[in-house]
Amino acid sequence: MSLTNFSAGAQSARSVDPATKVTVPALAEMKRQSKPISALTAYDYATARLVDEAGIDFILVGDSLAMVVLGHENTLSVTLDEMLHHTRAVRRAVRRALVVADMPFGTYHGSIPEAVANAVRFVKEAGAEAVKIEGPRVELVRALTEAEIPVVAHLGLTPQSVHRMGGYRVQARTAETLRQLRADARALAQAGAGALVLEGVPREAAAAITADLAIPTIGIGAGPDCDGQILVFHDLVSLTFAPAAKFVRRYADAGSLFRSAIEHYREDVEHHAFPSDAESYHMPAARRDPAPEPYGEDAVVNTDALEDLGDFSRP
Ligand code: KIV
Repeated sequence: MSLTNFSAGAQSARSVDPATKVTVPALAEMKRQSKPISALTAYDYATARLVDEAGIDFILVGDSLAMVVLGHENTLSVTLDEMLHHTRAVRRAVRRALVVADMPFGTYHGSIPEAVANAVRFVKEAGAEAVKIEGPRVELVRALTEAEIPVVAHLGLTPQSVHRMGGYRVQARTAETLRQLRADARALAQAGAGALVLEGVPREAAAAITADLAIPTIGIGAGPDCDGQILVFHDLVSLTFAPAAKFVRRYADAGSLFRSAIEHYREDVEHHAFPSDAESYHMPAARRDPAPEPYGEDAVVNTDALEDLGDFSRP
């Protein structure tokens, strides 16, 4: 291989610093050193940049985008092409965080070769550094790992199983289901998963699994004893249109902020208060009056010069 273009891949508009880049092995090292792992979802360039520049370790292009960005009722309908499109946008923004792409429903539920081929697209076409898959798909985790694609596994409340689960319900609340969850978690780790998202499980279950495994657990609605925490960006900043779940902490009210800015703008337009003269471009003073005609009516005039109003860029 050549290291010539190591820090600026074709997908990446911002250069990556290999010294600080978060990788899947780096997450395991953070667990060994008892350093909490911070994770958030992001789905577009602007939010991914903010999340990365704030020092979040792990950015998930989650299929939750189906609901919070695309307005679907659940995560099931988002397509592979839509997920690739959003992953590319996030990839262009991120320098430091690990970029993980969620494989959408239906793209890894058929044959293993088909699932591996779909995962390869996330790495090759969108610049993902790992893929996330839901459920105890041990053989698939092994196959992806053998294909050099790091895997983040996801157990507990797995939203793509909403119909089988009969709704979004906390999982592993009995000794028997907890035993099964622990066995699944161990099998996924042994098959090569690099991290495990635990969603919607009792705190005690997450603590037991976190203690069982050498790979990091990343919790959402799983209590404080996981190795890291993840939230959906839109929940964190109140950009959803529904009451928050118990496990969500709202760190800002971006919905109210945006709503008020938009209403203020509309009022200004309606009252001719926007744009002001200072927000307008002007003809250079020397060009405001028609040029004097020093020559006769038949003279050749360079009219192009009169069209040049200067740079249209911001001040
Ligand atoms: O899609 C998503 O956002 C997720 C997280 C909630 C873990 O899977």
